[in-house]
Amino acid sequence: MNDSKSLKPTFQINPDITFLNHGSYGACPIPVFENYQKWQHKIEQNPVQFMANDVYNDLEISRSALGKYLNCHMDDIVYFPNPTHAVASIIDNIRINENEEVLSTDLEYGSCDRMWFYHSKKNKYNYNRVKINLPIIDKASFLENFWEGASDKTKYIFISHITSGTGMILPVEDIINEAKRRNIKTIIDGAHVPGQLPLDLINLKRIKKNLKKPMKFEQKIYSLLPDNKISLSQMEPHKKLHKILADNHQILSTNYNFQHMIKPLI
Ligand SMILES: Cc1ncc(COP(=O)(O)O)c(C=O)c1O
Repeated sequence: MNDSKSLKPTFQINPDITFLNHGSYGACPIPVFENYQKWQHKIEQNPVQFMANDVYNDLEISRSALGKYLNCHMDDIVYFPNPTHAVASIIDNIRINENEEVLSTDLEYGSCDRMWFYHSKKNKYNYNRVKINLPIIDKASFLENFWEGASDKTKYIFISHITSGTGMILPVEDIINEAKRRNIKTIIDGAHVPGQLPLDLINLKRIKKNLKKPMKFEQKIYSLLPDNKISLSQMEPHKKLHKILADNHQILSTNYNFQHMIKPLI
């Protein structure tokens, strides 16, 4: 069922088009499309009931199912509107000092790369984008190339599991293990991964992922494990809402105002 001939009819894409880009504005399979239309109808029928009550229970069910699929606890999943949003929330909520560094590659997705660049300029730390030699010959040479960028200043690693431009699967397990040995925290951009690669988050332990289009079940839902170590008082006001929602595992975005999404908190 996963060959292109049998998959093609499950999409609504004009058959005259050879559609190669499934990242930026990807279509989803017909059963998924029909399902999210069903949800949209449900919202339209009683928006207040849905936003004030139903959505929280539905999200619990969703997180529980996704947690089983990814082998992680449902409370380690937070939904965001998209990976850029998820990565922004992480970047906004970590503290990196002037003499510290973030190690990344020159293969990262543009929006994430730019956010790190901006954050590093603002906070005066070094954002080190290692130039990866292409083509990558094998895992060992990639890892050697990558780790050449590390130093005793490296505090965080930011790297994609599947690279955006080149569609390569990077050896994130090896990177996490070595990073742990060096006392470096790893942030993985896992866009597109859940529907394409088997994931076992418990065994990757404390890995942080932002997940794009999990199995394409929902077109606009993404998630990551929350990094809840920042106190509210340290945060700028617009970020507090985020934090509050993250604590409740309830970040999501629709066409509705964010305020509608706040569950009773206490
Ligand atoms: C590796 C990777 N990270 C992040 C993103 C960002 O996705 P979005 O622009 O939907 O936030 C993409 C988009 O395709 C991607 O491929």
